[in-house]
Amino acid sequence: MKKVIVTGGAGFIGSHTCVELVAAGYEPVIVDDLRNSEERALEGIAKITGRVPLGYRIDCNDEGGMERVFAEHAPVHGVIHFAADKAVGESVADPLKYYHNNIGSLAILLRVMARHGVKRIVFSSSCTVYGQPEKMPVTETSPDRNASSPYGYTKVVCEQMLRDLSHADPLLKAVLLRYFNPIGAHPSAHIGELPRGVPTNLVPYVTQTAAGQREVLTINGNDYPTPDGTNVRDYIHVVDLARAHVMALDWMEKQAAPLCEVFNLGTGKGNSVLEVVKTFVEVNGVPVPHRFGPRRAGDVVSIWADVRKSRDELGWSCKLDLKDALRDAWRWQKGLERAAG
Ligand code: UFG
Repeated sequence: MKKVIVTGGAGFIGSHTCVELVAAGYEPVIVDDLRNSEERALEGIAKITGRVPLGYRIDCNDEGGMERVFAEHAPVHGVIHFAADKAVGESVADPLKYYHNNIGSLAILLRVMARHGVKRIVFSSSCTVYGQPEKMPVTETSPDRNASSPYGYTKVVCEQMLRDLSHADPLLKAVLLRYFNPIGAHPSAHIGELPRGVPTNLVPYVTQTAAGQREVLTINGNDYPTPDGTNVRDYIHVVDLARAHVMALDWMEKQAAPLCEVFNLGTGKGNSVLEVVKTFVEVNGVPVPHRFGPRRAGDVVSIWADVRKSRDELGWSCKLDLKDALRDAWRWQKGLERAAG
């Protein structure tokens, strides 16, 4: 079985990707220091796939630790690199943490890969690299704007690092996946999002409010130039997103090296914050108390993906929609409540 090292494999998108890797016949090897994830993600993966995944509690900045994992699992077919810090607000307050963890760890990973002759990497990027694009939907060739946070800028730099390396190493194959807004959970409710503390992202805040853990959802601004005044985003079901990683690995095989290719991963459709809240209420039949607050610093007005390239080249498109994602997010939340007693 082809072994794929999945950094951040215990995280939200990483854990769902491990499930899809197993389903496609790959063997994921998880490297995750659990700073922003929990061991129970591995149990969830095991419940879904029937197999306990291999896991190492290692910080990707620990070069010696990474060396050992690559040596132990040689030959490594490829790497999917999720591990990164991702809180936009925190990155503004503590930019060095982001430059160190996100950029430093990719540099170390690439060095270790080179030493072990591993030539395939799928990298977690973000639509944040587009800033507020002028034309919608946003295509992969839209110019990169000033990402609005140090977090976003680390994604720009990491993408550039991979581009530069693909010029220097004729055998390297890199696929950069720009995620729009991943939400939802596995339909089995065995894995999902596990935010630490007060969630900053919309959907976990919605599910916690519906569950009564939070009093009220504050919608960050209703005076934007959008149909209902609230921000528009492209919300993609995490299972669809996870599948795309496996398809990217398979697609790479058919391409000549060197390769460094970017793909948008979204649904191709924008939904407003209010639409998300209304759809959640409609699908799940539970109220979500909400009020309007001021705009949040750094939010772009609207963004959604042009997904033609992923469809035409990777052969990938979403099978699930906003309703599916919000139903699965709620099922996961209810499971968490039950587990907490
Ligand atoms: N929102 C609320 N109330 C909340 C939380 C969010 O109204 O309590 C709104 C936000 O203001 C935004 C929308 O819901 O309009 C979506 O917010 P999220 O925080 O869920 O997602 P973002 O679009 O801000 O963030 C995503 C990724 C980041 C990435 C960013 C780039 O999560 O990794 O896009 O734009 F950097």
